[in-house]
Amino acid sequence: MKHQTSSDWIARSLRSVWHPCTQMQHHEQVPLIAVRRAKGPWLYDHEERRYLDAISSWWVNLFGHANPRINAALKDQLDTLEHAMLAGFTHEPVIELSEQLASLTGHALGHAFYASDGASAVEIAMKMSFHAWRNAGFPDKQEFVCLQGSYHGETIGALSVTDVPLFKDAYGPLLRAAHVVASPDARQALEGESAQDVARRAILDVERLFAQRGANIAAIIVEPLVQCATGMAMHDPLYLALLRALCDRHRVHLIADEIAVGCGRTGTFFACEQAAIWPDFLCLSKGISGGYLPLSLVLTTDAVYQSFYSEDITRGFLHSHSYTGNALACRAALATLQIFREDDVLNRNRERAAKLAMAMAPLAGDGRVRHFRQRGTIFAFDAIEPDAARAASFARRFFTTAVEHELLLRPIGRTVYLMPPYVLDDEEIALLGARVNTVFDSVMAS
Ligand SMILES: Cc1ncc(COP(=O)(O)O)c(C=O)c1O
Repeated sequence: MKHQTSSDWIARSLRSVWHPCTQMQHHEQVPLIAVRRAKGPWLYDHEERRYLDAISSWWVNLFGHANPRINAALKDQLDTLEHAMLAGFTHEPVIELSEQLASLTGHALGHAFYASDGASAVEIAMKMSFHAWRNAGFPDKQEFVCLQGSYHGETIGALSVTDVPLFKDAYGPLLRAAHVVASPDARQALEGESAQDVARRAILDVERLFAQRGANIAAIIVEPLVQCATGMAMHDPLYLALLRALCDRHRVHLIADEIAVGCGRTGTFFACEQAAIWPDFLCLSKGISGGYLPLSLVLTTDAVYQSFYSEDITRGFLHSHSYTGNALACRAALATLQIFREDDVLNRNRERAAKLAMAMAPLAGDGRVRHFRQRGTIFAFDAIEPDAARAASFARRFFTTAVEHELLLRPIGRTVYLMPPYVLDDEEIALLGARVNTVFDSVMAS
């Protein structure tokens, strides 16, 4: 058979694949990239052109593509047990993973419930919160609270607590209304205000709402430390500490959506650790399987678990997905956690992030840039682009130019961000920093 080029694959893809989060007509101008293989932080197309995956393929990849250790674990698991249903059955990978995750929370969150995608974990946390209150004799606690600019996924429940009009508005009639409170986004600091001042100001909004509606509110959901999808809006850990206290005072559950920020992205394994708090529900996905397989889960307290434990079947959590606790996905997660332990990943990431910060330093001081920010291994800055038409096309132009410079970067609006896998060597860090500068210059001048 004739060798198929990237163009062949792209044409076939456009004929049969409906790509996510895409107005497909835009591919008339912005070509797809057909990935044939990947290694470490690099993706390769059919002509061996390479692209540095500086956003970890939608924030999932932690230890590079085709990681030898995760590959070996999966190959072993394939020959042992690929999948068995989790109702009525259990298996080694799901048990070990649940134990290790509970241990990472110091056993504050002692039970894990599994699904596949992040949005499903959010649905589970919301249903569990409501049901736990109902089991505890508070059936009126049915309302949810989210933050301005929040993003928790695209299914109906998760979209109800998402505050991104572009994703939400078309489906408005299908959604349940949620309360939206102020974001503690540190970029909102007024003259002379610190990030902590913004956090204190934002918490007043929650306090007002809880005072009015606390008896009817089941939970507030938050992306701890970084609201990623809205454009890497970062806040001070103080916000989380104050929120935990408010939730306790008003008997409202705290759901920490660590789907994007968990697994070391913010510098600690869980973002909540930086505020020295634990939520009632913690959603995890994306990086937990190393970016290999769809896996999500909700960690919760033994107290919540106990509130479902009964002779009465209807007090139980009768939620399931066919692939709940998939053995291959759990084994990938175990291999991922093993790398964290063996390679002192969090400390080494601190060194890598410091080097990347140096490489990005020219942009931090650039007059065309606002709010250069960093939390752990997440970097972001906002381009100043007063012209509305150019601002609207900024992300697309930046993506296209980045690809020409061997980088995979997808700005959110005018926010350029990096969320690279934890495997960049010194040369790759230098290359990334230098090329982001070059791409930015080129896009701003074009
Ligand atoms: C904070 C957060 N929550 C939930 C989700 C949804 O996860 P998924 O796309 O796996 O459904 C995302 C995805 O980007 C996310 O960033």
